[in-house]
Amino acid sequence: MTQRKRTLRSAQWFGTADKNGFMYRSWMKNQGIPDHEFQGKPIIGICNTWSELTPCNAHFRRIADHVKKGILEAGGYPVEFPVFSNGESNLRPTAMFTRNLASMDVEEAIRGNPMDAVVLLVGCDKTTPALLMGAASCDLPTLVVSGGPMLNGKHQGKDIGSGTVVWQLSEEVKAGRMSMHDFMAAEAGMSRSAGTCNTMGTASTMACMAEALGTSLPHNAAIPAVDSRRYVFAHLSGNRIVEMVDEDLKLSKVLTREAFENAIRVNAAIGGSTNAVVHLKAIAGRIGVELDLDDWTRIGRGTPTIVDLQPSGRFLMEEFYYAGGLPAVLRRLAEANLLPHPDNLTVNGRTLWENVASAPIYNDEVIRPLDNPLRQDGGMCILRGNLAPRGAVLKPSAASPGLMQHRGRAVVFNDFDHYKARINDPDLDVDADSILVMRNCGPRGYHGMAEVGNMGLPSKLLAQGVTDMVRISDARMSGTAYGTVVLHVAPEAAAGGPLAAVRDGDWIELDCGNGRLHLELSDEEIQARLQESDPTAASRRIASDGGYRQLYIEHVLQADEGCDFDFLVGRRGAEVPRHSH
Ligand code: FES
Ligand code: MG
Repeated sequence: MTQRKRTLRSAQWFGTADKNGFMYRSWMKNQGIPDHEFQGKPIIGICNTWSELTPCNAHFRRIADHVKKGILEAGGYPVEFPVFSNGESNLRPTAMFTRNLASMDVEEAIRGNPMDAVVLLVGCDKTTPALLMGAASCDLPTLVVSGGPMLNGKHQGKDIGSGTVVWQLSEEVKAGRMSMHDFMAAEAGMSRSAGTCNTMGTASTMACMAEALGTSLPHNAAIPAVDSRRYVFAHLSGNRIVEMVDEDLKLSKVLTREAFENAIRVNAAIGGSTNAVVHLKAIAGRIGVELDLDDWTRIGRGTPTIVDLQPSGRFLMEEFYYAGGLPAVLRRLAEANLLPHPDNLTVNGRTLWENVASAPIYNDEVIRPLDNPLRQDGGMCILRGNLAPRGAVLKPSAASPGLMQHRGRAVVFNDFDHYKARINDPDLDVDADSILVMRNCGPRGYHGMAEVGNMGLPSKLLAQGVTDMVRISDARMSGTAYGTVVLHVAPEAAAGGPLAAVRDGDWIELDCGNGRLHLELSDEEIQARLQESDPTAASRRIASDGGYRQLYIEHVLQADEGCDFDFLVGRRGAEVPRHSH
């Protein structure tokens, strides 16, 4: 038996010669596991989000195989287990609706099973926060392995980016500039290999966040899914997690307040997704780190965006990897004293700075120098005002500079169906200066806060050549989307927020420079209108249907709080539960 420095958690299953030890070992042995595997080897869980319904994670069995090789080689024993897989592209009403469900699955699977550490296989948008949230509540030694992005999409000899091109081309079709035949051809060329969206959408953003937080080995974010080095990365992660057991390198030693501050700064530098604001808050809440919207202003706002990737810029994740990947960005930030905590610990036992100090940078067009950024004023713009008392979010790098200070008259949609029914009405009273307002699309109102905030523009304005308008909602938007879009308005209309009070023709002022979102009405008028509208009635009716949806509506927190369930916030540890027999 291997002499270990500490008693393994898994020994509470496999380490006794009594009735219970017999049971725990005997049933496992039906898989052909010899007795010596139970003699004190660290048992490493591989938490897998593989699913054929999550195409972005459909190659994860192969990744798991390489993680297993690394674990076995290092003297551990791997046990792969499935958890709920949040597939962004198929799940309705939105994969966000089940992010918290998956996190509960992860938390209970880790705590209730014999494992000493866990590797999280994540990819498609919500799988990363879901698994990190569940693992953070347990706080075992934990290491993230992302599945990697798809190869660049190709259409008519040009590169096209996941998601981003969908928004672009569907507007081209609506404006009459693209044929249906070409549109279908682009569909076939966009997703042509295993992997996650190849833009700096939410999946790539969260893979970067996992790396910036220190929860993965270097280069987690960018190695393409089908590049052999992705499998080498998985193998090395398997090696490392076994050492982490002996070092007792728990997630809470990595996921510190400092780690989140680094991540916020990195999100600005990469032009990351607005969804990261919600997810980082939820992960921080689980591990017990205080984080609020104003941290995004204080730490991130004004940081130059230096990664020139779609949707903010030009390139895709393949170029990002070939240019040096996230280590190159971290190095560039740190050398300019723009990484707040370069000495923060990462899962390989070294600091962030130690990992990137000699990281090569191969392409200054993709990872631009700080004195020639894609956008000088990156980061998230956090807005407040009588229309968003608890905050709202706008991503400057994806917005039109000319619209970031704007006053316009509201065109109001009660919900997404109302928007769809009305937006292309030739008689709709709307012009390029109008502000499109949509409500009842927040966490409670839409059951998961769908990514409908980047409302497509009215056809008649598209035909006139209008390319952007100010849009405001309590929804989210895909990380692959762009535009001058105010999102995550909190509280949402369905929770009694002031969005419910807006009417067609009201004047609204957006002032990103001063972080202000103002409805030009008196407080008394807003309150009087809210009394009339009783916006929560609809969600109360739906809640009585029961099921997970009822749990969701009754317990989901607002966007500024990360949309976790109120009862899931916090670290509960991984103390071994009582025996079942
Ligand atoms: Fe899965 Fe974009 S849809 S990563
Ligand atoms: Mg997405």
